[in-house]
Parts: sequence; structure tokens; C-alpha cells
Amino acid sequence: MSLEDGARALLEANTRTGEKDGLTYRFSVPSVRSYPFQWFWDSCFHAVVWSRFDRERAADELRGLLAWQRDDGFIPHVVFWDRSQIRLGQVWHHLESRGRRPRTTEYVQPPVLAQAVERIGGDFARDVLPAVAAFYRYLARARDPDGDGLVSIVAQFESGLDYSPVYSDGARIPRRDPVSIYVHSRRPEVVNKLLGFDLARIFRYTDYHHEDVLFNAIYADGLRALARLAGDDAELAAWAAATADRVTAALVQRSWDEEAGLFFNLVGRNEKRLKHPTIISLLPLLLPDLPAGIADSLIAQLADERTFWTPWPVPSVPRGDRSFAADSHVWRIRLIWRGPCSMNTNWLLAHGLRRHGRDDLADEIAVRSRRLVERGGFNEFYDPLGGRPVGAADFGWATLAVDL
Ligand code: GLC
Repeated sequence: MSLEDGARALLEANTRTGEKDGLTYRFSVPSVRSYPFQWFWDSCFHAVVWSRFDRERAADELRGLLAWQRDDGFIPHVVFWDRSQIRLGQVWHHLESRGRRPRTTEYVQPPVLAQAVERIGGDFARDVLPAVAAFYRYLARARDPDGDGLVSIVAQFESGLDYSPVYSDGARIPRRDPVSIYVHSRRPEVVNKLLGFDLARIFRYTDYHHEDVLFNAIYADGLRALARLAGDDAELAAWAAATADRVTAALVQRSWDEEAGLFFNLVGRNEKRLKHPTIISLLPLLLPDLPAGIADSLIAQLADERTFWTPWPVPSVPRGDRSFAADSHVWRIRLIWRGPCSMNTNWLLAHGLRRHGRDDLADEIAVRSRRLVERGGFNEFYDPLGGRPVGAADFGWATLAVDL
């Protein structure tokens, strides 16, 4: 079977349906065994791959998410279509308790929605434009309490890079063993839940929110896509373009660290810059309007064999870093995003490299990514040194390998 056919077969096999208000929706779960619900950014990536085979099916993937959009524009990061599968660990992501099973979480994920809608295009893109615009306007309005242009995530699970060491650094975890890292990652979630997920209160009473570089880079890129989608709506096009400019300028002004040559997350009200290099630091490469010197510096870091250019690029944490782990489990505890590479970040970085004229490196990532899949199947992660598959098997967004 060709890689392309394999990708389609996997997304097909992972397809599930769910009901809301008398309508049936279909979507692909990231992994039948490990992730049996609909996740926001996974579905956006699935839609990109589906759009190569079947535009209607790609559109369905996003319709399932948009069905849960709230009046203020918010779209949840997980939809628990099959509530019988909800596990204890998910209890902190949602509001309901005491035996009442929730339908969705109260969190968001990196806003790669407009990019996915643009890939699908056609009538679908026109029909969902108001909903897509409402989501980006929600982020601009509700997630930027200091008004500097950068939006904040209020839990590390909103970043999509769950256990990246950046978040344990931010939480000032006294001990670096996996159990402490795991337990402390839940603490902000417990507090958020006690605060009823009320953003005004979370921003007032807590100080662990991140102006996350990856989230903001994807947000700015999404706003550019939204501006292109806006068509005749000149006001929306102007707002989206101006907001994207502001986000990019704020990233450069506030998150860029000249000395390290990387972007870093800003934590809390005092915007403490967290100088821990991870893949998050490289994501502004997505932005075509990045000053050339900055893009060159990011590319030099990405291509450095001592850090990010491993035999199987691109690791989520550079090799040699004190928190680097080649597996997605440490002491048999699931601690993902602490080293292994993933197809979604490879896909994003390959796009970024092409935008900055480095097709050579993007092609190399594409070749090695496809080789990883040929050797180890469509997997959640891969060991960036040895190339073996780690994490969940038959994983949805790994199909992005066919779109690199
Ligand atoms: C993990 C990942 C997150 C992803 C989810 C479902 O939590 O960190 O990015 O969306 O799994 O695949």
C-alpha cells in the first residue's frame, strides 16, 4: 500500500460518529486506544490530510468541532462524544462533576483552524467564515488581559505540547522526577477548576499563564489565513491582518532573545522570560514577515546537529538538554513532548522553512519523516536519535507525513 493510501485507511479506521441536537457528525479520533475523543488541533490536521482525498469528509471533521462553538466564539479542545470513555485524568479539564459527565473541556488548543479551512476552501470556507472569525476574535478579546497582542494559555494542556519542560520550569517544580512533574502539571488545572474556569478570575488570582510562543505563532499564521479567507468582508480582512501584524511585532519585541537567538515563553503578569530552548522556540519560523536576521538565526539553530538537527528531526527538546528524553515515557509515566519528534511540528516547521526559502531543509525533513512512517507506521512520536516509534500507534496526525 502507498503511504498516501495508508494515511487514508488510517483516518478511515479512526473515524467515529457522534450526535448533537439530532444531527450526526463524523470525525477521526487521534488514536482508538489512547485518545478516543475528538481533539481540536488533531482534527484540524486530519482535515488538512482529508482534503487531499475527500473535501466533504475534511469539512465534516471541522463541522464536528464547530458544532460546539459557544456564543462568545470559544471552541473546546476536546469533545467527549462518547462519554462512556471519559477517564479520571480528564476530570480537571472540564466543569461538571459529581457523576455528571461533561460533553467538552473548558480549554482551547493552538488555533490552526483557519489554516485547515483555507485548505478545504470552496463553499465550506465561505459558510464557516463567521464561526472561524468568531474564534479568533474570542482569542484576541478573552486571552490577552494585558493588551500587548500576545494571547495567553491558562494551562499547559492548552499548548498542545503537554509536558514540555518549559511548563515544568514555569511552575518552579522543586524536584525534577517524573512523578513530581506529572503531579505539579495538574495543580494549575485544579485551581482553574475551583475558579470555575472564569478567565477574569484566573488572570487575577493566578500567575502561571504563558504567553506561549508556539500558540502565538500559530495564532498569527491563522490570522493571516483568516485575512485571505475574508473575501469581500474588508473589515474582517483588515482586522485579521492588523492583528497578525501586532502579534508578530509583539513576539519579536517581547519573546525574542537576542543572546540565545531563540524565542521564549513569557510567564505570568511580570512576563518572566523562560529561557529553556525547546521546539516551541522555533515555531515563529511560520511567520513570513519575521525580520530576516531572526529567521536566519532560527534556521541555524534548527540545522545544528548538536541540538535540533538529530538523525530523525525535529526533536521536541534539543538533544543534550538536561530534560531530553528519547522516549515519550519516563519511568513508565507518560511524559510526552520531552524529546521525541512529532509529525505535526515537522509539518509546521517544514512550512516555515519553505516560506523562508529553505526548501532544501524542508525537503530533508519531508524525506526523513516519510521514512519514519515507512519504518515504524503512523505513530504519535518517534525517537529522534534512533527513529523507533514511541507513544500511541495508528495515530491520526502522523498522516501529515504525506502532506510535507
Ligand atoms: C496529547 C497531545 C496533544 C494532542 C492530544 C490528542 O495530549 O499533547 O497535543 O492534541 O494528545 O492527540
